[in-house]
Amino acid sequence: MDRPNNRSTLVRRHFVTGLAGASLAPLARLSRARTGPGPSPSQTLGPFYPRDAGERPRETDADLITLDGDHVVTKGTPLFLVGRVIDGSGHVVAGAAVEIWQCDANAVYHHPAGGAEAERDTAFQGYGVASTDANGEFRFRTIVPVAYPGRTPHIHIRVAPSRGRAFATQLYLPGDAGNARDFLFSRLTPEEQRALSLVIEPTRDPTHPLARATRLTGRAELVIA
Ligand SMILES: [Fe+2]
Repeated sequence: MDRPNNRSTLVRRHFVTGLAGASLAPLARLSRARTGPGPSPSQTLGPFYPRDAGERPRETDADLITLDGDHVVTKGTPLFLVGRVIDGSGHVVAGAAVEIWQCDANAVYHHPAGGAEAERDTAFQGYGVASTDANGEFRFRTIVPVAYPGRTPHIHIRVAPSRGRAFATQLYLPGDAGNARDFLFSRLTPEEQRALSLVIEPTRDPTHPLARATRLTGRAELVIA
């Protein structure tokens, strides 16, 4: 099938949109060498970041899946996504806006350019926003990311602190067979790959409303400059 999100289109788009961040990579490595644990590697927003309200879904809350009672309507494996944002000095970053977006279990992005609209899982929100609490933590309920043509499974994430520059990257599944072939993941150093790999574990706190109906929790820690 010829989708707008086929591999050659994606590679071209990611390449173009990734150019702005590419020149910053040597600086990030330099600061890490000087100060120890450095900023998390930034990665392109990609072609499916919803840049305005017209490209966002009607609902934009932190719960990307749909339940009918205890039955999960959304296709895919529910995931409680928990993260923490700290700055380069190790201080928590509270009150930051955190956005995530990813394709649905049918490998379709819910974006005007996401393609294959007829195949969309309409029970998946595709995009959501949360804010970090006083501990710098954020939580979403979404699905375990899946591969789509040309990419290994990943969740896009953008953090906009109340002061300072926004930061964007992508979160990966550790040990996924597609990672080594992925044109973005494979160019990271092993240390950078670890920094952007979710820690996947059984959900231990099903009392949190966003943890309900999930068996898996994915954890991430982001260090922003
Ligand atoms: Fe993507």
